[in-house]
Amino acid sequence: MTLLHTEGLSVRFRLRDAVVQAVTDLHLRVRAGELLAVVGESGCGKSVLAHALLGLLPANAEVSGHATVDGTDLLHSGEKVLARQIRGRKIGLIPQSPATALTAVRTGRTLLAETLRAHDRDPKTADRVAADAGFDPADLDRYPFQLSGGMAQRLVTALALATDPPLLIADEPTTGLDRPLVDHTLDLLRRRCDNGGAVLLITHDLAAAERVADTVAVMYASRIVEHRPATGVFTEPAHPYTAALLKALPDREFRPIPGHPPMLTALPPGCAFAPRCPRADTTCATPPTGPVACHHPLHTEVAV
Ligand SMILES: Nc1ncnc2c1ncn2[C@@H]1O[C@H](COP(=O)(O)OP(=O)(O)OP(=O)(O)O)[C@@H](O)[C@H]1O
Ligand code: SF4
Ligand SMILES: [Mg+2]
Repeated sequence: MTLLHTEGLSVRFRLRDAVVQAVTDLHLRVRAGELLAVVGESGCGKSVLAHALLGLLPANAEVSGHATVDGTDLLHSGEKVLARQIRGRKIGLIPQSPATALTAVRTGRTLLAETLRAHDRDPKTADRVAADAGFDPADLDRYPFQLSGGMAQRLVTALALATDPPLLIADEPTTGLDRPLVDHTLDLLRRRCDNGGAVLLITHDLAAAERVADTVAVMYASRIVEHRPATGVFTEPAHPYTAALLKALPDREFRPIPGHPPMLTALPPGCAFAPRCPRADTTCATPPTGPVACHHPLHTEVAV
């Protein structure tokens, strides 16, 4: 069953003298039981995608295309529906910046109890929910400023899991965690999917994505350039950008990708990876499309 579906989802930010093309023409489908990892370099549009799905974009954002969760329209529903029926109920969010997401004047216990109550759940389960997320219940009476970065990360994870939403968007949920806690969080996300939930995991950590993802969407300069089952992406990457990302890993060739991503205010009409791509030629001046958006992929017969 499809839980999340987007078609041609695009987000632009209008600035005084420029337009930032942050997300372009995204076609995504996440099914119940599926863990989709969205990977890509800093600034490619991953968090904007998450915020667009939850109606959390600032006023200068223009969103177009279609997006539904469990059949409910996400882009035209209005704030009341998003607040009452979507956020926390159908889609949970582990935000990328826990420090800004936590209310400074409330303890972890108060925040968790309020969240549980707001979703008709027993606030007495706060200890268990915290422990499930790797947050020691003994620390629940601390205020956010008394938490380390890793503790705050685990608290926002607990808050997102408290309402047990069918779709969880986890935006860099392992930032600041030690290896055992990284593994704990990844196992938690995997288990949710094995129990019928769905997870959209946004991560810089390709090893984490390889460990837990069923499918991978690789983003470059606001677009998804490769979207395939995870095993194929990691063993036989088809898009030159995916291949370059994998070669940059310390346990592979440790070879950085030359150059920089383009400015999202000045994207070229053709393939945005061309200035960094060893396979680029004149055909790349026209926009490539498809699950492997490349005119000269490294593998032509790939499972999608
Ligand atoms: N409110 C805004 N106004 C203008 N541009 C914005 C706004 N919010 C985000 N952007 C731009 O949109 C682009 C995508 O940002 P986003 O936060 O989605 O990146 P990201 O892929 O999540 O990066 P990271 O991996 O560093 O978290 C960036 O170029 C960013 O500067
Ligand atoms: S379309 Fe061309 S420039 Fe872009 S990734 Fe493919 S070969 Fe490289
Ligand atoms: Mg981000």
